[in-house]
Amino acid sequence: MMKLLFALALIAYIASVWGTYTNMRSIQEHGEMKIEQRIDEAVAPLREKIRDLEQSFSQKYPPVKFLSEKDRKRILITGGAGFVGSHLTDKLMMDGHEVTVVDNFFTGRKRNVEHWIGHENFELINHDVVEPLYIEAFSPPLVTSQYGFCGGSQLLANRWTRSITWRLPPLLPNYMYNPIKTLKTNTIGTLNMLGLAKRVGARLLLASTSEVYGGEGVEVRVARIFNTFGSRMHMNDGRVVSNFILQALQGEPLTVYGSGSQTRAFQYVSDLVNGLVLLMNSNISSPVNLGNPEEHTILEFARLIKSLVSKASDRSKYMSLSRSQIQFLPEAQDDPQRRRPDIRKANMMLGWEPVVPLEEGLNKTIQYFSRELEHQANNQYIPKPKAARMKKGRPRHN
Ligand SMILES: NC(=O)c1ccc[n+]([C@@H]2O[C@H](COP(=O)([O-])OP(=O)(O)OC[C@H]3O[C@@H](n4cnc5c(N)ncnc54)[C@H](O)[C@@H]3O)[C@@H](O)[C@H]2O)c1
Repeated sequence: MMKLLFALALIAYIASVWGTYTNMRSIQEHGEMKIEQRIDEAVAPLREKIRDLEQSFSQKYPPVKFLSEKDRKRILITGGAGFVGSHLTDKLMMDGHEVTVVDNFFTGRKRNVEHWIGHENFELINHDVVEPLYIEAFSPPLVTSQYGFCGGSQLLANRWTRSITWRLPPLLPNYMYNPIKTLKTNTIGTLNMLGLAKRVGARLLLASTSEVYGGEGVEVRVARIFNTFGSRMHMNDGRVVSNFILQALQGEPLTVYGSGSQTRAFQYVSDLVNGLVLLMNSNISSPVNLGNPEEHTILEFARLIKSLVSKASDRSKYMSLSRSQIQFLPEAQDDPQRRRPDIRKANMMLGWEPVVPLEEGLNKTIQYFSRELEHQANNQYIPKPKAARMKKGRPRHN
C-alpha cells in the first residue's frame, strides 16, 4: 500500500513538474512568437522602404540608345531646363549622347529634367550664363555641341539687326518682368557661350534671329523659332493656345478679340526639336526658320480646343468644359492678321517639315495642362489665364 501511495505521489510530482515545464515552454514560445512578431512589425516598413528604393534605382530613366565613344557627343544645353531646352534634352539623351544642362532656373524648372537626374549621361548645372563657365576645366573630353536656349535671344537679335527700332517680340511675360537681365543673358551670356565654344572647339546653335555671331572662329547655327506649343510650356505665356486651353479647362469663356478671323500657326515641340537637331548637324550657317506654316484662324483654335477639352473632360474632375463659351471682345487694331513662317529653306536644305497633326499636339498639351492644374489645385492655387497681350493699351492675340 505504502509503495502504491509512493508511486502515485511520484507520478503526481512528475506530472506537475512536466506541467510546469510545458507551461514554461509555452510561455517561452509565446514570448518568442511575440518578440518575432514585434520584430516583424518593426522591420516591415524598412522592408517596404528598401523595396521602394530598389524600384527607384532599377528603372526610372527613359530608355536611351547606346552609342559608341566615336558617335557619342558631349552636348551642352544652356536653358536646358526650359520648355524647348528640356524637350531637346530628352531627344539627345534618348539618342544616346551625354548632355549637360546649364540653367539658372529663371523661367525653367528642375522638374522639366528631373527624370534624368542621376543618369550617367546627364549632368545639371545651376549656373547663370552671364557668368563665365569654365566647364572644360573639370569635364574633359570636351564639349562637342552647344545649344543655347536661354530665353529671349530674339530680343538681342532684333536690337542688333534692326538697330534702334527693337521692340519686345512675342516673348514671355517672364522676360518682360526683367528686361535688363534678359538683355544681359543675350549679350554677355551669348558671348560667354561663344567663348566656351571657341575654347573647346564646339559647334554652337543659337535660338535666335541673328547672324552677328558668326566669323569668330566658331561654327554657329542659328534657328529662328516660331510659335511652339507642347507639354512644359509656360502656363501663363499669354499665347492663344495656352490661354484657350486654360480657359476651357477652368470652364471660363474663351476670349476672342475681333471676329477671330486672324490666323496663327503653331508647331508642336517635338517637330521643333527634330528641326533643331537636323540644323545642328547641317552645314548651314545662316538663320533657318523653324515653325509650322499651317495657319488656323483664332476662332478655329477656340472651337477646336473647346471641343477637345470637352471630349477629354470625362477623364478628369478638373476638366469642366460645359460652362465654357466663346466670348467675342472688341477687335484690336494692331493685331496681325496673318502670322505664318516661311520654312522653304528648312524644307529644301534639311528635308524638315512639321509632321505632328494639330489635334494630336493639342491633346497632349491639354493633358499636360490638366495635370498641372490638378497639382496646383492640391495647393489651392489655380492660375487665371493671362489676358491677351497689351500693346499701347490695346489687347491682341499672340
Ligand atoms: N516657345 C516659343 O514658342 C518660342 C518662340 C520663339 C522663340 N523662342 C526662343 O526659344 C528659346 C527657348 O524658349 P522657351 O520657350 O523654351 O523658353 P523658356 O523660358 O522655357 O526657356 C529658357 C530657359 O533659359 C533659362 N535661363 C534664362 N536666363 C538664364 C541665364 N542667365 N543663365 C542660365 N539659364 C537661363 C531659363 O531658366 C529657362 O530654363 C528662347 O530663346 C526663346 O526666345 C521660343
